[in-house]
Amino acid sequence: MGAAFQPRSKEFNDFNALKNADDWRQKRYGMTKLVDRFSRKIDYLRISITDHCNLNCLYCAPFGGRRKLTHPAILSHEEIVRIVNGAVLAGISKVRITGGEPLMRRGVVELCRMLSALEGLESLTLTTNGVRLQEFAPQLHDAGVKRVNVSLDTLRPERFRKITGYDLLSQVLAGISMAEEVGLRPVKINTVVMRGINDDEIENFARLTLKKPYHVRFIELMPTNGCGFGDHESLFMPVEEIVRVVKRVGELSLEPAVDSPGPARLCSLPGGFGRVGFIAPLSHHFCGSCNRLRLTADGNLRTCLFSEKEIDIKGPLRAGASIEKLADIFRLAATRKPHGHRLKCTEVEKTFGRDMQAIGG
Ligand code: 5AD
Repeated sequence: MGAAFQPRSKEFNDFNALKNADDWRQKRYGMTKLVDRFSRKIDYLRISITDHCNLNCLYCAPFGGRRKLTHPAILSHEEIVRIVNGAVLAGISKVRITGGEPLMRRGVVELCRMLSALEGLESLTLTTNGVRLQEFAPQLHDAGVKRVNVSLDTLRPERFRKITGYDLLSQVLAGISMAEEVGLRPVKINTVVMRGINDDEIENFARLTLKKPYHVRFIELMPTNGCGFGDHESLFMPVEEIVRVVKRVGELSLEPAVDSPGPARLCSLPGGFGRVGFIAPLSHHFCGSCNRLRLTADGNLRTCLFSEKEIDIKGPLRAGASIEKLADIFRLAATRKPHGHRLKCTEVEKTFGRDMQAIGG
């Protein structure tokens, strides 16, 4: 396989002088942005690097976080880097590493180091359950990761064990502190709200932002393959209701939209250091501003979290496709991005075709 990995070079200095990645791409390749059929700019790639997880959260991996993909099926680090080269050429400038649990993958730090060194990539971030974050945060920061999102649905140890199957809350909290300390900021905490399971902790989660500069983002439960607690309809709590509960802590002021790119509407509480965010994939789905593609650990591009249609990129890659050809596959994926998902709040038995654990959220 040809040299995919391009370390920072003299041109990277030029890149720093440019306004943004689009400028750089235009100058270097004479190309512009990746835009889909609905005029959405596609510049964000989420990469699931493993389907393995060290937790068994009931709504995500109800039957255990077992690895399903075999080693040869999974993209190697070099293959991921080569695909990202193609992605950047096509117009991707932001990459997020997900899983499963990405910190379960051997060599994840090295992979991050290779990715963050790529020209044209503006930001590399990672989503984790936090269990191994205390150990990894300094190395990730050193490897060029900008920020981390930590998935955390409860602040109560016993409940954490019930939801995830493990008694590891203190490790996660230590991981969050460490991430903050080493500068993986702002640390974003993603909390999936489930009625009757953790909705009584909404205020406590919101209060975290009074003391710490965290972004606590409440997420509506999506109807994934295994809703291990019961049916989606009874667990689902719409963002409007979550907002009402947060307002018991204090008046919420909406942050300007420029400070809230992405799916979360960000607010702050009086005197707070952090932000409270609301992510409503169902009640206000944000498909109209969706900027993302997903790469699965076994080398398929997914155009929408809720679409089972995938585009094989591993096949062409292993057959020796050039970076330009890989970029073409990203362009093809962009043209296949659906207008939106059709999930409604009340729609339940919806399948993703894969478990959430294999897509990475
Ligand atoms: N609904 C909402 N969010 C989910 N996640 C996983 N499964 C679901 C679901 N059914 C979230 C995780 C994590 C992100 C990667 O996806 O909590 O924050």
